[in-house]
Amino acid sequence: MISKVRGTQDILPSRFTDKTDAQIGRWHLVERAAREVFRRYGFTEIRTPIIERTELFERGVGTETDVNKEMYTFADRDGERVSLRPESTASVVRAYIEHGMFNQPGLTKLYYIGPQFRRERPQKGRYRQFGQIGVEVLGQSDNPAIEAEVIEMLDSYFRELRIIDTELLINSIGDGNCRPAYIERLKEAIKERLPNLCGSCKQRYETNPLRVLDCKVESCQPYLSELPTITEMLCEPCRAHFDEFRQMLDDRGIKYTVAPRLVRGLDYYTRTAFEITGKQLGAQNTIVGGGRYDGLSEMIGGPSAKGFGFAFGIERMVMSLPDSSIDPRADAPTLFIAYIGDDARKHSFALARRLRESGVSAVVDLEGRKLKKALAIANNLAARYALIVGEDEIKSGNYSLRDMASGEQQNLSEQHLIATLRDKDVVL
Ligand code: HAM
Repeated sequence: MISKVRGTQDILPSRFTDKTDAQIGRWHLVERAAREVFRRYGFTEIRTPIIERTELFERGVGTETDVNKEMYTFADRDGERVSLRPESTASVVRAYIEHGMFNQPGLTKLYYIGPQFRRERPQKGRYRQFGQIGVEVLGQSDNPAIEAEVIEMLDSYFRELRIIDTELLINSIGDGNCRPAYIERLKEAIKERLPNLCGSCKQRYETNPLRVLDCKVESCQPYLSELPTITEMLCEPCRAHFDEFRQMLDDRGIKYTVAPRLVRGLDYYTRTAFEITGKQLGAQNTIVGGGRYDGLSEMIGGPSAKGFGFAFGIERMVMSLPDSSIDPRADAPTLFIAYIGDDARKHSFALARRLRESGVSAVVDLEGRKLKKALAIANNLAARYALIVGEDEIKSGNYSLRDMASGEQQNLSEQHLIATLRDKDVVL
């Protein structure tokens, strides 16, 4: 047997899996709610390719970041280096530039839903192919109202999905004015402690010292907690931006924790960085990550533009869903039609077609099974109702609709049948 590639997942109809993160009904819910909530805030969808020129991510994400080192990169037949996208912000900014969206006045608000690829060590909540939903706000303004409104939108999204028990962590990581001096100071402080730090800290000290702050190794923690934070070294404009952003969150009643050591794993960030963590997730507990990236457009050869956005892992969002937000039968048919005899079979096919045209999800037995076997299938599909068509039903035009869970039966005309089922139909 050929099995799936390590670190990838099949997302299955609910009845084929107990693993909540691999149930398609939950994925649909997370995606549908995103489309709906983001639409309310004026976002529209963009779809970019899954492969891009490697150079885009080298310039955008940075060559010394974990994300870059985890990329799936290969030479195409003509020798061009291409990569499976490890994230979508660089792709969206590329599309923003390539299609001249920057020529339009005002903000461009885009969202995306799709797979990303990183060759990480797989574990719970961490995959080599994973789904992301993200948004990017691009334009000429860096008003912190953009940040505050995007976070308000996330708050609304979490409410919509009834996910509680999350924490919003925010930080400012400064900009080209104040960060270089901070990095110098940070390097000095790390250097003094270097013999006590882990191998990965030692390496990051050389290549990307900010990321030392992000080390999770237990024995490093006492030393890391002594390192200077950027907060005290922010330049005046960065400080003012951060203060205003926080004030705007306060005005909205959105709770947050300032996390001075929060640095993100991608090079393009400036000023505001944030994450939302979930309490039920274990080691991989960051659900959402995002921030401002005012220089990214120029980094990849575009005009000057400002940007802010976030992305969350769909698997992690799905794992955070409480059972109360999902109908376990969301991807099951509403009705199963079984029949007795040839006339009834023809009648059933036609009836099923009319029901479907009226918007009802109806499955009819196509295998010509005996009634008992057909009903067992209905059970297995977790159909909410079953209906048996025989001679009497054809003659009278009345059907007996059976609730599969309670066994209750209702006698209904076709018109009433449609009305009843439409009412009960779960629309995905
Ligand atoms: P990121 O922090 O690399 O940011 O990823 C965002 C989220 O994607 C993470 O918080 C996590 O939920 C999910 N994620 C990342 N890697 C994996 C993985 N291997 N398996 C499962 N889930 C994963 C970005 O990608 C930025 N582009 C976010 C952004 C948008 N910043 C500004 N705009």
